Amino acid sequence: MTDSAGRHDLAGLKALVTGGASGIGRATADLLTARGADVAVLDRDITAVDKPLRGYAADVTDDETVRAAVATAVADLGGLDILVNNAGIGAQGTVADNDDAAWHRVLDVNVVGMVRTTRAALPALRRSRHAAIVNTCSVAATAGLPQRALYSASKGAVYSLTLAMAADHVREGIRVNCVNPGTVDTPWVGRLLDKADDPATERAALEARQPTGRLVRADEVAGAIAYLASPLSGATTGTSLAVDGGMQGLRLRPAGQ
Ligand code: NAI
Repeated sequence: MTDSAGRHDLAGLKALVTGGASGIGRATADLLTARGADVAVLDRDITAVDKPLRGYAADVTDDETVRAAVATAVADLGGLDILVNNAGIGAQGTVADNDDAAWHRVLDVNVVGMVRTTRAALPALRRSRHAAIVNTCSVAATAGLPQRALYSASKGAVYSLTLAMAADHVREGIRVNCVNPGTVDTPWVGRLLDKADDPATERAALEARQPTGRLVRADEVAGAIAYLASPLSGATTGTSLAVDGGMQGLRLRPAGQ
């Protein structure tokens, strides 16, 4: 996106994307780069991260490594304006199906992981003139989906955390928003389908669950994240932007009726 002078909206801005080595995070890192930002990726596996992206290996469950990776990234970038808290893992089952260790693990990655990266990035964000944080939430935060008790609880927490962070940091000039994707065609969903008894039927069911009749593309989520990260959305904070093919908001009649 360019302004009337042909300048990219993110020109000169510095960004850090967690979970930026794959799927939504990778599409976001690439789009922020295309729109002029200098982008660092923090991921537990950075083997697929290549230039112009800067890769930093860290697991968001390890506070010390996160602090070190964020400090190095901020030093290399020469500051930080945009933090995309995107690293996350899935979980399937009802409330009866996951043991305590699984609950602690998923909440540790999906919720406390965002806390760790944000905590480490805040001093640099406070020095920015265009500070924005975008959290990757999910339609699972706002709609009851079957077999997703633990995952939904983690994303519900991400939604509430987004609002609380937006309130805490608005007077410091830091905006905080989240995106709520529906089912996105990423390696994650590929892994989910691989585990299904009948992957083709499972994929068709996921597609049919969305009013648009197809899975969301990672670049469509990246576009929403880039908007919320950009000075173009400078008056927007404490919101969630659905990128879900209408899944949360629409109630269709069956086809043909
Ligand atoms: P993905 O599996 O393709 O990518 C996730 C990335 O996060 C990977 O590069 C992985 O190495 C990294 N990661 C995972 N745990 C980590 C940890 N402990 N420390 C550091 N890095 C870690 O998944 P996808 O689909 O791109 O998901 C990204 C985010 O989008 C997640 O937060 C997920 O909950 C969310 N989301 C995904 C949806 C989907 O249908 N794919 C739908 C709604 C939300």
